[in-house]
Amino acid sequence: MHHFKYRNNRLYCESVDIETIAEEVGTPFYLYSYKTLIDHYRKIRDAFKGLKPIICFSMKSNSNLSVCRALVKQGAGLDIVSGGELFKAQKIKADPRKIVYASVGKTALEIDKALRAGILFFNVESVPELIMIEKLCARLKKRAKVAIRVNPGVRADTHKYITTGTKENKFGIDENTAASIFRQREKFSHLDIVGIHIHIGSQITQREPFIKALKKASVLIRALRAQGVKIDYLNIGGGLGIIYHKERPQTAKEFAKAVVPLLKKLDVKLILEPGRFISGNSGILVTRVLYVKRSPSKNFMIVDAGMNDLMRPSLYSAYHDILPIRRSRATRRKFDVVGPICESGDFLAKERILSQSDEGDYLAAMGAGAYGFSMSSNYNARPRVAEVMVINGSYYITRNRESYEDLIRGEKIPKVLR
Ligand code: LLP
Repeated sequence: MHHFKYRNNRLYCESVDIETIAEEVGTPFYLYSYKTLIDHYRKIRDAFKGLKPIICFSMKSNSNLSVCRALVKQGAGLDIVSGGELFKAQKIKADPRKIVYASVGKTALEIDKALRAGILFFNVESVPELIMIEKLCARLKKRAKVAIRVNPGVRADTHKYITTGTKENKFGIDENTAASIFRQREKFSHLDIVGIHIHIGSQITQREPFIKALKKASVLIRALRAQGVKIDYLNIGGGLGIIYHKERPQTAKEFAKAVVPLLKKLDVKLILEPGRFISGNSGILVTRVLYVKRSPSKNFMIVDAGMNDLMRPSLYSAYHDILPIRRSRATRRKFDVVGPICESGDFLAKERILSQSDEGDYLAAMGAGAYGFSMSSNYNARPRVAEVMVINGSYYITRNRESYEDLIRGEKIPKVLR
């Protein structure tokens, strides 16, 4: 469900005509629907409300300050993965007691900053990291809470780059090592090792892998409790799949119905880290057709957005629906929708049946609110695009399009080269 719908054959974001925004802001740009964003946050919050979880929005999916601020204002916490995300979280005055921090490679500086900020806990991914946090706590004379990220050895049926819970993945700690950390917790005199974290991957449409992982976590929690270990928190990660094309993912309600009974029995404080579920269908990428090129074997719509703006199709062969901002009855043909970048992997869509567009027409790549702008780059020296949000009938530029000057900010030419 989202609020990008046609009215009289023109695509609207809520009650705002997208073409009007495109004419005023220029293209390409990401466009977010506040209502869609909040609706999705509420869907997951309401589905789990009996357990009063902390819903930590996964900033890596979309760290636009306005997106995150909107969610934080609704009561969301944040799942962060870097000092940069912590910095952004602090900028929007997120409550640090609702911030959890996962990453296999937290640097000493990043840990230091998170300790000073007073985050809820670290999701620890290795023994050396645990030792590092203990050392830094001792130096700062602080205590820290940690959860151990357990790699449950569960394969989620998703793209191989975004499955994270199998034994070959770099994430988390195996169950036996995790158990021995808990047993030796006295060694870490500055740490309260109070939780278990699992996150098995992303864009998971079925419930079985989640249940499998959760059952493994439950077995571990029970075994540890039987040995006198206190476990207060269970962080079940993110990963809920959404509809890009023909997926039939479970709804938040269905997901909750399947896992809440298991969770209730555990009597833990629950943390969730959804990213895509909240932001994915809340955003689109609006682009303009530059040229329509027909070759003997293929038809191309060459648009002004490229793989540097939306990387998912190139990187994961991900499907994003392509919709015209103005629907017409023009002849439908098979097109590749490609960007201006000098790589054959630069496409937004391949072999799609679309009605013929003309130069200057606008198109939207749908479902681009998660891992869209956040994975964009300046490749080919292309300024990163603007981000815009529609809120209650008005649109706001929440991030300016980068300028050429932005492209060289921080660069220096050594004297010897001048
Ligand atoms: N928690 C942890 C520890 C994570 O690593 C992730 C995502 C999430 C939560 C949020 O997962 P979500 O609810 O959004 O599925 N760039 C890829 C997705 C990478 C996901 C990385 N980790 C894509 O565009 O599909």
